[in-house]
Amino acid sequence: MMICCLQTLLLFGAQLVFSIPNSFFYHDFLNGNGNKEIHFSGVKLHVDSAQPSVFAVTGGNATMPCSFWYEPELSSPRDIRVKWSWLPTAAGGQETDVLVAIGSRSRTFGDFRGRVQLRQDFPGDAALVMTKLLLNDAGRYHCEVVDGLEDKSTSVYLELQGVVFPYQHPRGHYYLSFLGAQQACEEQGSILATFTQLFQSWKEGLNWCNAGWLADGTVQYPITQPRVPCGGHGLAPGVRSYGRRHLHLHRYDVFCFSSSLRGKVYYLKPSHKMNLTEAQQACQKDGAEIAKVGQLYAAWKLTGLDSCDAGWLADGSVRYPITRPRRNCGPSEPGVRSFGFPPPQHKHGVYCYKAVDE
Ligand SMILES: *[C@@H]1O[C@H](CO)[C@@H](O)[C@H](O)[C@H]1NC(C)=O
Ligand SMILES: *[C@@H]1O[C@H](CO)[C@@H](O)[C@H](O)[C@H]1NC(C)=O
Repeated sequence: MMICCLQTLLLFGAQLVFSIPNSFFYHDFLNGNGNKEIHFSGVKLHVDSAQPSVFAVTGGNATMPCSFWYEPELSSPRDIRVKWSWLPTAAGGQETDVLVAIGSRSRTFGDFRGRVQLRQDFPGDAALVMTKLLLNDAGRYHCEVVDGLEDKSTSVYLELQGVVFPYQHPRGHYYLSFLGAQQACEEQGSILATFTQLFQSWKEGLNWCNAGWLADGTVQYPITQPRVPCGGHGLAPGVRSYGRRHLHLHRYDVFCFSSSLRGKVYYLKPSHKMNLTEAQQACQKDGAEIAKVGQLYAAWKLTGLDSCDAGWLADGSVRYPITRPRRNCGPSEPGVRSFGFPPPQHKHGVYCYKAVDE
């Protein structure tokens, strides 16, 4: 009873306050499902995105759809404010502003400066156009439209096309804390994979028995063929989770995510096999640098790099990429084969990476 009357009082108060100079009159009421919504002159603001997620590649562009309209339609346009914000998928990620636009003026923030703009192709178009996408642009984008006191929003996920790869530190198995894992991925030209990315890779057949950190601070591993050392035959295939682990105390491997390259990875045909130092120098002499693990995986997955020759990589591992499995080139599935981390004086070929200037 008390609550009811208090609300009536507040609503009454609101009607006085919400009378604004541009002749729109706001009134406030409780709608059918009990949510408090603010309507003006019986006109309702709607905001929607045409699709729940957008797929793109790093270095490329993406358009995050968002549009708004009124019901019933308005005859003249109104001044509205559009705000795009971004919630990264990484653990402890903070929601940050991307762009705020009022009328034709807009402001962009942080790393998004100079890379984003509002499309405004038609009335009610509030799509966010993003260019020069970065590896860590993935996440949830929130489109909020504010018209006076009305405030409606929708979300779109940005997913980057790429490849998830399991990574083990050169010092050995289950060596990495969460921070160590983040660093290890960065050193390999990649970032920590998200659960969505790992799940997608599992659907595509990734079968890996060692648990690794993900961006959200959980530790998981993808199993497509259940077997005894990986949880047993009794469990169904799936992404198995150890849940959230202690970010400093617990140690695992990691799942990294690498996306498209603005450059080329190739096997350098050597006149003779090289130790690790010589391999690094050989790439430099070729106007390139020794390839990182993430670059080799991206070239394998996204450009179909296939080479049966084992070569040094920047982290001191020796690997080779196979997209067309054949005799004497490892297992019958495509994949990046690894010889682990041989002693640096051993002699092998090398994979180099040459960047393409923009
Ligand atoms: C991305 O957009 C920019 C500017 O609109 C354009 O110049 C560029 O060609 C686009 N890049 C791709 C990969 O489509
Ligand atoms: C590789 O060989 C060169 C000689 O060609 C030698 O100076 C260098 O120390 C060797 N590096 C390693 C890591 O064995």
